[in-house]
Amino acid sequence: MPWLPEPLHSDRLMVRGLSDIDRPLLTALMRSPDVRAFLGGAMTAEQVTETLAGPIGRQWGVFCVVRSDSAEPIGTVTLSRDRGELEIAYQFLPEHWGHGFAREAVQMVVDWLWDAAADDRVIAVTQAAHDRSRALLEDLGMRVVDEFEEFGALQKVYELRRPGVASNET
Ligand SMILES: CC(C)(COP(=O)(O)OP(=O)(O)OC[C@H]1O[C@@H](n2cnc3c(N)ncnc32)[C@H](O)[C@@H]1OP(=O)(O)O)[C@@H](O)C(=O)NCCC(=O)NCCS
Repeated sequence: MPWLPEPLHSDRLMVRGLSDIDRPLLTALMRSPDVRAFLGGAMTAEQVTETLAGPIGRQWGVFCVVRSDSAEPIGTVTLSRDRGELEIAYQFLPEHWGHGFAREAVQMVVDWLWDAAADDRVIAVTQAAHDRSRALLEDLGMRVVDEFEEFGALQKVYELRRPGVASNET
C-alpha cells in the first residue's frame, strides 16, 4: 500500500499518515451514528476497543486529515486493496461536513496517488442511497462502472482513471 512520505498541504488542510495520536478521532468516527449511517451503524464501545487494539500505523492504509486553521483532526482517507484493487474511502466528523473538506482531501490523495502507485485506476464503493458520498465522487470526476448488493443494500462502484489512461468500458 502506498504511504505518504511527507504530509500533503493545501490552504485549508493537511493530510498526513495516521498514528497512535489519532485514537480519539478514530473512536469518534466509529461511535458516531451519523458517520456510520451507511456503514453498518455505530460501533459499540467493545467493538471500538477491539478494533483499536494494537499499534496504529501504516499497516492501516489510513491517512488523517487535519484542518490547517485549528490543527484539529477531522477525518480520514483510506486506501485499501480489500477487493483486490486500489480503493479509496473517506470518513469525516459530521461537524465538519458541508465545507468541501472531504472532497478536497480525497482530491489531494488521488493527485498524490498517481505518482506514488503504479495503478491505472482507483475505485470507490458507496451505497446507491448515499447522496453525500455520491456527490463527492461525482464532483471528483468519478463515474459508476458497476453495482452489487452487499449487506442488504445496493452498492455503486465508481472508478477514476489515471490521467491519460482510457477507460476499458468506453
Ligand atoms: C461522505 C462525506 C465524507 C461527505 O461529506 P461532505 O462534507 O458532504 O462532502 P464534501 O467535502 O464533498 O462537501 C460538500 C459540501 O460542502 C459544500 N462546500 C462548502 N464550501 C465548499 C468548498 N470550498 N468546496 C467544495 N464544497 C464546499 C458544498 O456545497 C457541499 O454542500 P451540500 O452538502 O450542502 O451540497 C461525509 O458525509 C461522511 O464522512 N460520511 C460518513 C462516512 C461515509 O459514509 N463515507 C462514505 C463511504 S466510504
